[in-house]
Amino acid sequence: MSTPNSPTLDKHSSALDAAENTASHLITVTLRVRRFNPEVSAEAEWVDYRLPIDPKERVLDALHKIKWEIDGTLTFRRSCAHGVCGSDAVRINGRNRLACKTLIKDINPEKPITVEPIKGLTVLKDLVVDMDPFFQAYRDVMPFLITKGNEPTRERLQSAEDRERFDDTTKCILCAACTSSCPVFWNDGQYFGPAAIVNAHRFIFDSRDEGGEQRLEILNDKDGVWRCRTTFNCTDACPRGIEVTKAIQEVKRALITRRF
Ligand code: SF4
Ligand code: FES
Repeated sequence: MSTPNSPTLDKHSSALDAAENTASHLITVTLRVRRFNPEVSAEAEWVDYRLPIDPKERVLDALHKIKWEIDGTLTFRRSCAHGVCGSDAVRINGRNRLACKTLIKDINPEKPITVEPIKGLTVLKDLVVDMDPFFQAYRDVMPFLITKGNEPTRERLQSAEDRERFDDTTKCILCAACTSSCPVFWNDGQYFGPAAIVNAHRFIFDSRDEGGEQRLEILNDKDGVWRCRTTFNCTDACPRGIEVTKAIQEVKRALITRRF
């Protein structure tokens, strides 16, 4: 039988202490999630979930806890969970962010944390929106290298300076945080939107590409770059730190000067 000082009891005590310590890191947060299921109701509603969580965890972890432990019907997109795939852009406390890159401790966990779908795209269910119009605009700007034949026999060389011209816009992960934070896009979903322009920029300013004129003409359209009102929402929203507004301005300048 174990005595109070026996090694067996000490081992159990320290295991219990460790468990308590771990538990003491947890705080209780309220996640206020905008839920919508067209099969149940035509109206969306806010639903509160209270759950214990380590404040160093992310909003995505909280959504997982809800889905796996509280309510399996909660629907949201995510894939990589590490800020690479761009599939979990949502509005957290009214601001577009990636759920997998937003720590609970950074968003005032003492108040309910609101999580809702990004704006300007049709909500299909809960936090999932229809991304088709977004990707159509992306496809429309031809986001691939265009050349007029003369296939090289080895790689297409480019100077470091030429590569630098479009370095920023190569970082896009197509999360739609920029486009869905744009008031012009909210009012009229026909606008190409910042993300499509960023991805056009990535090729227009690539010295190896020969489709710049075509892309500029596409963006000269009434729903193209001239719709931008320079509100900087897009730059503020971008989780990759891309200077989105600057890229749009550079495309506008290229349209005026026809130099790129
Ligand atoms: S520019 Fe930034 S915010 Fe916009 S889609 Fe790309 S990564 Fe997302
Ligand atoms: S899940 Fe891939 S970027 Fe967040």
